Amino acid sequence: MIELRFANNDLIPTMGIGTWLSKPNEVYNAIITAIKAGYRHIDCAYIYKNEKEIGDALQFAFKNGLVKREELFITSKLWNNSHEMAQIEPAIKQTLKDLQLDYLDLYLMHWPIAFKWEFEQVKSVENLASLKDIPLEETWLGMAELKKNGLTKHIGVSNFSQKKLQHLIDTTQIVPENNQIEIHPYFQQKKLRSYCTQNNIVVTAYSPLGSRHLTKSENGISENLIIKNMAERYNCTPAQVILAWGMAQGISIIPKSTNTDRIYENYNAVNVHLRPEDIDAINMVDENNRQSKGLFAVLPDGYYSYANIWDEDPFVLLKK
Ligand code: A2P
Repeated sequence: MIELRFANNDLIPTMGIGTWLSKPNEVYNAIITAIKAGYRHIDCAYIYKNEKEIGDALQFAFKNGLVKREELFITSKLWNNSHEMAQIEPAIKQTLKDLQLDYLDLYLMHWPIAFKWEFEQVKSVENLASLKDIPLEETWLGMAELKKNGLTKHIGVSNFSQKKLQHLIDTTQIVPENNQIEIHPYFQQKKLRSYCTQNNIVVTAYSPLGSRHLTKSENGISENLIIKNMAERYNCTPAQVILAWGMAQGISIIPKSTNTDRIYENYNAVNVHLRPEDIDAINMVDENNRQSKGLFAVLPDGYYSYANIWDEDPFVLLKK
């Protein structure tokens, strides 16, 4: 298993299994299958609403000797309505209870977006909280306490721009250990990745296959001729080429699947080693095509916009 190193030298397995959109009744088998296939890194989140079933699968795996707790790397994420200091510890404790664990390996602030505590999803502006009321650095200091208390070994963030990462570092002097962001051949995020590398922030790619939109569409990444041709040459599948490219970037990847064959297929991408010229060819297919835009928090007259979530000109989007 290839691993990446945190600033303190602890390791995170490059290949992990994602669980966003894994249905509660499917995720139990998916996790057991994944552990049998060799995955040792499992990516979870409170808001995926399937942590109880994942916890049951982990218990099965421990009791039946498939794996030991200390051999697994388990991530979860603080949801947007728990950013207030008083909510942070109860939130991780709920996740630990559901996952039936004593500690997490990594806990992430899921989005640089805050909701009022009563609302897990927002339907109106009144459900949102502003970052002036609950600054990201306060939430971040609360997360640092979780690490001090041993509830998680590492802390990081997700969906953070360079500007927001730098803001956390400047205001708290605590460098996030991980930034989990969307990365796939059509959305490569080279600038943000290079900032993270310079600052010893491990990068994890969510939607490394291009997410459900692209995997299920006719113009999806796996339909890209360059990738299709490469798959033929390497005698593997287009998905394996895409994942091999991801791992070759020096980032961790968490492809989601609840299908047994695809769970194995994705894991076996660790055996596909692309030649430098093929990696270069995939580097060229970038379309700056973000799929997860955070629009769930963008409401008329609300605090959040595409521009202020990503610190990026929305006109980049409009050009598409
Ligand atoms: P399924 O769970 O039925 O396998 P991403 O991790 O980039 O968001 O991609 C997840 C989506 O891609 C899911 O819809 C998943 O469906 C599908 N998927 C996962 N692995 C593969 C694969 N090897 N080939 C094609 N589609 C895949």
